[in-house]
Amino acid sequence: MKGNVSYIAPERALISTTVKEIQPYATISSRNKILSGETSKDITPLKLDWNESTQPPSDAVKNAIKESIDNNENILNWYPELYSRSLRHKLGEYCNRNAEDILVTNGSDDALELICKVFLDPGDQVVVPYPTYTHFITYVQSRGADLRKVELTDPFKPDITSILSHVTPDTKLIYIVNPNNPTGVLLSKKQISTICTIANHSIVIVDEAYFEFAGETVMDLIDRNPNLIITRTFSKAWALAGLRIGYLVTNQVLIDQLAKVLNPKSVSVMAQVAAFAALSDKGYMEKYVAEVKTSKKMLLDFFAKFKISAFDSRANYIMVQHPELNLLLEKMEQENIFVRDRSSFKNLPNFFRITLGTVDQTVELISRLDRILSSF
Ligand SMILES: Cc1ncc(COP(=O)(O)O)c(C=O)c1O
Repeated sequence: MKGNVSYIAPERALISTTVKEIQPYATISSRNKILSGETSKDITPLKLDWNESTQPPSDAVKNAIKESIDNNENILNWYPELYSRSLRHKLGEYCNRNAEDILVTNGSDDALELICKVFLDPGDQVVVPYPTYTHFITYVQSRGADLRKVELTDPFKPDITSILSHVTPDTKLIYIVNPNNPTGVLLSKKQISTICTIANHSIVIVDEAYFEFAGETVMDLIDRNPNLIITRTFSKAWALAGLRIGYLVTNQVLIDQLAKVLNPKSVSVMAQVAAFAALSDKGYMEKYVAEVKTSKKMLLDFFAKFKISAFDSRANYIMVQHPELNLLLEKMEQENIFVRDRSSFKNLPNFFRITLGTVDQTVELISRLDRILSSF
């Protein structure tokens, strides 16, 4: 507006007090470096930093996307199917639950944010065992909630005693990644059940982003535990990270509350089409999961040969510790291997996380790592 109105600079004064306090989610991905061709052209980049699938989605998925565009000229100008109804039914079959007990979201990040929006008021206590998937913390902090970190003494040991020792009568939410990112540690169904029972006054989120690799779920605990919400994603085993699609599963009472806040059109039409096609071609995902398992064994054996600590995991990544971490990461980048430095976690000194890929990719990875490690 012109005239004598003076603007207030949109600086700190306008930003909510809770957001002011948030430390930005500091993260880097090798994606743009690889796509821009900045990396060495002679050797194929091995993008092993974000636990994505290392292979593209199946032809069935690609064809479904192409066909949806060819067969319906309004597919892109119309909003997508509200609440992803068709996909919810397909997911109901996959999860062995009623479609009504599922909400499809724009990535499982969106599901985690939705849960925080619906359940957290400023000051509410949230218990999170560390190390964990830290993006969740941003959602907790943006609600002004009170984060209670549980620094696990041995992050590679399933340990519910430490978690439960931080639960108080005022705990509102407990966040458990199962298998955990970045350690790959899996809590048993019995352990999760114990947490749900003892903390029956709290919402327990079990983040099963890596469920397909672990092959174990706590889905059936939903019937006995009205406080349990499970989140899952199509970004990992299903190879659809770029499309952003995930979902949550819980009981009808909680779904009704969550659905009040969920934007019914937040999942794109292409994401819905792709996820539906992926679920119809489950064998493709299962073959990949089997390859990842073989790759894990190959890589663990390889590190053992070099007497380097590498930890078994129930997911599509392993954690590795090296005394000269920075130098090693530098050398790996020179060989076009991109992994994730996880040493900023207090209890993970000198650790990096490496995503597992196909057997062919692992053979190539090992030959490059062999060269690198022999140079130390
Ligand atoms: C444990 C965990 N939860 C959620 C996510 C986010 O998944 P999405 O791509 O579905 O948002 C990730 C991604 O790395 C993750 O590791």
